[in-house]
Amino acid sequence: MSSLSSLSTAMKRLEGKVAIITGGASGIGECTARLFSNHGAKVVITDVQDDLGHSVCESIGRDSANYVHCDVTNEPDVRNAVDEAVAKHGRLDIMFNNAGIIDKPKPSITDVERGDFARVLDTDVVGPFLGVKHAARAMIRARRGGCIVSTASTASVLGGSATCAYTCAKHAVVGLTKDAAAELGRYGIRVNCVSPHGVATPLARAFAGMRAEEMEELMSAHANLKGTGPLKAEDIAEAVLYLASDEARYVSGLNLVVDGGFTVVDSSLRSSSYT
Ligand SMILES: NC(=O)c1ccc[n+]([C@@H]2O[C@H](COP(=O)([O-])OP(=O)(O)OC[C@H]3O[C@@H](n4cnc5c(N)ncnc54)[C@H](O)[C@@H]3O)[C@@H](O)[C@H]2O)c1
Repeated sequence: MSSLSSLSTAMKRLEGKVAIITGGASGIGECTARLFSNHGAKVVITDVQDDLGHSVCESIGRDSANYVHCDVTNEPDVRNAVDEAVAKHGRLDIMFNNAGIIDKPKPSITDVERGDFARVLDTDVVGPFLGVKHAARAMIRARRGGCIVSTASTASVLGGSATCAYTCAKHAVVGLTKDAAAELGRYGIRVNCVSPHGVATPLARAFAGMRAEEMEELMSAHANLKGTGPLKAEDIAEAVLYLASDEARYVSGLNLVVDGGFTVVDSSLRSSSYT
């Protein structure tokens, strides 16, 4: 456990809560599942990588975590994951719509195939939409409020940092978050999203074509915030924990950008001679 995690688990912030995490077999989702469990939550990990998902649950502990296969683009799968969580634990408090993909970078928008564009939107927008829809269905019925968090990206506020499809998809996650927050507030359901900058997960490493150390070195060289080391999946998990916990009880409709200030700086000006 990192020093950050051990510091914050001194007080269990999700005791008695039940959370679903999509894309929980790897990267940010896996890390969040571990942190949520350390904070007392029962975690339902869902993914399409079944063996990995089962082994993550095994290492967290079968009392705290169980695995349900769920392709987020498939509505019956998402409905089933929500229904299984409620059937097993009697409630659903937190839905973390985190599963995502990115397409291969192309030299120009003129090279992007319609099918690749649509595939990214299917996973990265339709997936969170279905997660919001079915979590809201269970939460409204239970009348206990709830909390929904989706993973967007710094590509939700910047153009040109990822692929066209991914940038469009992550902007849409912010729209989904705001619209759902507006509607679901009346039921005491908070809806937020988190926007990570580059973290050396399998998704980001495949996109960048780099090993973890290479990617972290590159991200650190271009970071705005210096002296903290590279952004880690743990940093994103801590942000999600905040949004999911009672400490954020009045926070809804927020896009929490975790990028050390990268997206508020115009680096082209910074690198010019007068700064
Ligand atoms: N790593 C980064 O730099 C970064 C930055 C910004 C946003 N994100 C976002 O973070 C989220 C998590 O990605 P990660 O970086 O941890 O990558 P990752 O590859 O480690 O994890 C993504 C997980 O999503 C799962 N997944 C993919 N398609 C799925 C589907 N249709 N149904 C269910 N599960 C599916 C994968 O199997 C995988 O386990 C994604 O939404 C990604 O867009 C990542």
